[in-house]
Amino acid sequence: MKRAILIVDDEKDLLELLRRSLEPDLDCRVETAASGEEALRRLSAGRFDLVLADIKMPGMDGLELLEIIKRETPEQTVVMMTAYGEIDTAVRAMRSGAYDFITKPFEHEALVVRLEKALERSSLIQENRRLQLACSPLSAFQDLVGKSAVMQRLYETIRMAAQTDLTVLITGESGTGKDLTAHALHALSPRRRGPFVAVNCPTVPENILESELFGYRKGAFTHATENRPGLFQEAHGGTIFLDEIGDISPAIQTKLLRVLQEKEIKPLGETRSIVVDVRIVASTNRDLPAKIAAGSFREDFFYRLNVLPIRQPSLREHREDIPLIANHLLEKHCALLNRPLKRISPALMSQFLRHEWRGNVRELENVIMRGISFAASEEIGPADVGWAEQGERVSGGECLAVLPEPGEDYRRAKQAVLEQFNRRFLGRLLAESEGNVTQAGRRCGLERQALQQILRRYGIRAEEYRK
Ligand SMILES: Nc1ncnc2c1ncn2[C@@H]1O[C@H](COP(=O)(O)OP(=O)(O)OP(=O)(O)O)[C@@H](O)[C@H]1O
Ligand SMILES: [Mg+2]
Repeated sequence: MKRAILIVDDEKDLLELLRRSLEPDLDCRVETAASGEEALRRLSAGRFDLVLADIKMPGMDGLELLEIIKRETPEQTVVMMTAYGEIDTAVRAMRSGAYDFITKPFEHEALVVRLEKALERSSLIQENRRLQLACSPLSAFQDLVGKSAVMQRLYETIRMAAQTDLTVLITGESGTGKDLTAHALHALSPRRRGPFVAVNCPTVPENILESELFGYRKGAFTHATENRPGLFQEAHGGTIFLDEIGDISPAIQTKLLRVLQEKEIKPLGETRSIVVDVRIVASTNRDLPAKIAAGSFREDFFYRLNVLPIRQPSLREHREDIPLIANHLLEKHCALLNRPLKRISPALMSQFLRHEWRGNVRELENVIMRGISFAASEEIGPADVGWAEQGERVSGGECLAVLPEPGEDYRRAKQAVLEQFNRRFLGRLLAESEGNVTQAGRRCGLERQALQQILRRYGIRAEEYRK
């Protein structure tokens, strides 16, 4: 499969120039994004071996983009472009995890050599990861923590399902680990050496989802200047993970139904079908039977998907795992944030055990990350995560519950305040719109998809605001 590069720059001409010259010179597929926001959308829909991003851009700048990428996928290789003389910014980029930086204007040959090196790094990382997975099949569960009977049953189901090629539908509330289960299914399956391609369905705009999934032929539409394989072809020999399938339109449901029935895809503008060898795993936090009853989800498609159902338990169903999971997340994030290992105080742990956890493990993870950032000592107590000392959580409150200490790392402090702001602002907005995301988005000037992405990031569930 061809290597893929994502180039991010607000200068459209430069994007086009780079795309045309780099595709043949690096023998790769180049996609372009005109802003940081667009880049994030593309990254969540597909995998790229390299991201080449300009630092200076209106809106989200390159450094911000770099930070988000590094937070979400630390191993992603990113190369930054800076204007000549901006050494400070370049140094900051390297500190934030950029692999290399290139000053503009650049010589084409030099650029090709530097990017080739960056691509080499990516392929080494991938190879390494594959070897690790291949050598120790047990590591597939490494991230999925829990010893309760409920979790044991889940591991058993995953192990069994991984041995088959049947289509799997993972259901469960938001933040319960559906993504982890999908990865484990692939890593434990005979396809583990093949690709794992994840598609976050609702983040890909409806009108391009079809061409993303199935590819297109040159000339299929105005901007189709060449043949492009879709994600199904990219996943050939491996697994495709259709994340949040409950949110796709009936039109795409119909197209996917055909793939499930015939194991063939038809790129846009192509007359013949192509056979693909792909194992399909889908997930949703939606109540699909209810959507079927409401007429927004095809029943026949549901039955084709739900061949092997896996239900991800909510955290409330295995509270006994909370200490284990909490400590696992604590270790993970102290290491990621490069902080000495902290402890969770007994008072906070006992609150954890009683808390509702509507946002499940993701909510727990957010609370722990907050605690790591704000605890002054090595013990994280209720106040450090913005919870009142006993029992109840500080309610929405009229002021921000936690004001970061001046000595805190600036960006992390900002992140924490942003999180509080989002919870309060969006919580009230959703309450007033009775959980209707489209309406809430319209009121605050955000596209539904953009708003939904923010809600997911903070584990806020619109359903809870519905009457
Ligand atoms: N059992 C678990 N042990 C350790 N970490 C977990 C577990 N379950 C979930 N997590 C962590 O919680 C976070 C949310 O998990 P994940 O993204 O897989 O949830 P999800 O079910 O896909 O949610 P959504 O429906 O919102 O997409 C991740 O950071 C994941 O690593
Ligand atoms: Mg998910």
